[in-house]
Amino acid sequence: MKPNPRNERGLAESAHCFESAAPPMNTAADSTMRYREALELLRPRAQDHVLRWWAELNEAQRARLLEEIASVPWDVVDRLIPSHVLGRPATPSLANLQPAPVFPRTAPAGKEAYYRDAENLGCKLLRETRVAALTVAGGQGTRLGIDGPKGAVVVTPAGHRTLFELFAAAIVEQRRRSAAPIPWYIMTSPANHEQTIEFFRARGWLGLPREDLFFFSQGMLPAFDRHGRLLMEARDRLSLAPDGHGGTLKALARSGGLTDMRRRGVEIVSYFQVDNPLVRPLDPLFIGLHARTGSEMSTKVLPKAEDLECVGNLCLRDGKLAVIEYSEFPEALAHARNADGTRRFDSGNAAIHLLNVPFVERVSGHLLPYRRAEKTVPCIDDEGRTVRPTAPNAVKLETFIFDVLPLAENPLLFQIERAEEFSPVKNPTGVDSLESSRRDQIRRACRWLEAAGVAVPRRADGTPDVDVGIDPGFALEAADVAAKRERIPPLRAGDTVWIE
Ligand code: UD1
Repeated sequence: MKPNPRNERGLAESAHCFESAAPPMNTAADSTMRYREALELLRPRAQDHVLRWWAELNEAQRARLLEEIASVPWDVVDRLIPSHVLGRPATPSLANLQPAPVFPRTAPAGKEAYYRDAENLGCKLLRETRVAALTVAGGQGTRLGIDGPKGAVVVTPAGHRTLFELFAAAIVEQRRRSAAPIPWYIMTSPANHEQTIEFFRARGWLGLPREDLFFFSQGMLPAFDRHGRLLMEARDRLSLAPDGHGGTLKALARSGGLTDMRRRGVEIVSYFQVDNPLVRPLDPLFIGLHARTGSEMSTKVLPKAEDLECVGNLCLRDGKLAVIEYSEFPEALAHARNADGTRRFDSGNAAIHLLNVPFVERVSGHLLPYRRAEKTVPCIDDEGRTVRPTAPNAVKLETFIFDVLPLAENPLLFQIERAEEFSPVKNPTGVDSLESSRRDQIRRACRWLEAAGVAVPRRADGTPDVDVGIDPGFALEAADVAAKRERIPPLRAGDTVWIE
């Protein structure tokens, strides 16, 4: 790579300033050495502008900057700049896409015994601690109004429960039913790792034994300008972003998570995103079907709400199961219909997967395709002034977990009912928002209550006239409500009730 003359000059100045000042302490002498090492790393890559403000940084700032530079996976970055930042990655052909077969949620005629046996097998695997839960929770709750992990956002219509609390309650309840420990692996990001652990600690580890919680942090990648130069958030900070949930696999291996799973005898990981309050973290039928069919990776899919819904599309690409993201899915196919008028491609990615541990071990060293996204990223300019661009100025790179699907043997798709299991919180209002998810949580609770014979006050238009939610500790599915019918108070119009 040819050095950029502007970088060279900027660096020469800062290097000069630094060298002329006698290091006052050992730490300073140390940082001189580390500075020189960093320079050796950066200069041939024409990235030495990141040390431009060295002379004016204090020791703590210098240490932080050096740490961030050291955290960059340079081997990956060297490879990706020419192909993904300056160039565009080759995208796999979408010419040969076919709908993929799915297992329905309820047993088709003649398959009842098969489903029953599968569910029993799922329960057995849970009782034997051969299944663990895994949540990807690297995201922040900023867009939802909190300065902390997204899992700490209150999402319920009553009861003031956060996402983490809902998942924990479901896991506690499943442990009780299985009379067995079920470990929970939680992927954070460096931005929220400490806060996440503190959130759990301050609330008594949400009712779970500390030793069954495993927090691990995902990797980060720098954001680049269009010329492939690292962007800086501040004079002592690179602009770093999480490397995508595809990073889960490497982070699990790096953090000792996989070794921990092996030690406990965990064979299947039940993976879900932090944003879905309706998720069933451990679903015995899904687990049992996955195990019975010899699948290495299984995915829950849902019929799409509309042709262009922002969900990934599960389909066969050249005969292999793959997720084609909504942004890449050909519009003509999104609108395509079968002869009976139903949608031809109708398997949306609910982002709930089961992965076998040996499969994770096999693919964690595999290079997942990096996706390029142009984003608007506040940064500092060459003079160190903060710039808040109004149009995309940065390239970010991520990998996606579902890109390992084509590598899996016997992958299985399991169709779920949206109203029962999927209502993610991505935005404050509108589609997939706090608002829509609260509404969907109320609707599901009311359906479960009515199925159990509880009278639900409804408005003239049929919508529930009560803000009611059901704690996963009380019921994981509709049938549980019927069994506890006598514990439910009468519901009056206008009430706000949390049933637990
Ligand atoms: C995602 C899926 C989409 C699926 C939809 C269902 C991707 C690229 N697409 O869309 O196929 O239909 O969910 O709701 O995932 N996360 C991390 N670390 C990261 C990146 C993401 O932990 O580096 C977690 C976030 O906390 C978030 C989740 O993964 O909960 C989803 O990521 P996001 O980028 O928001 O994807 P979506 O567009 O929501």
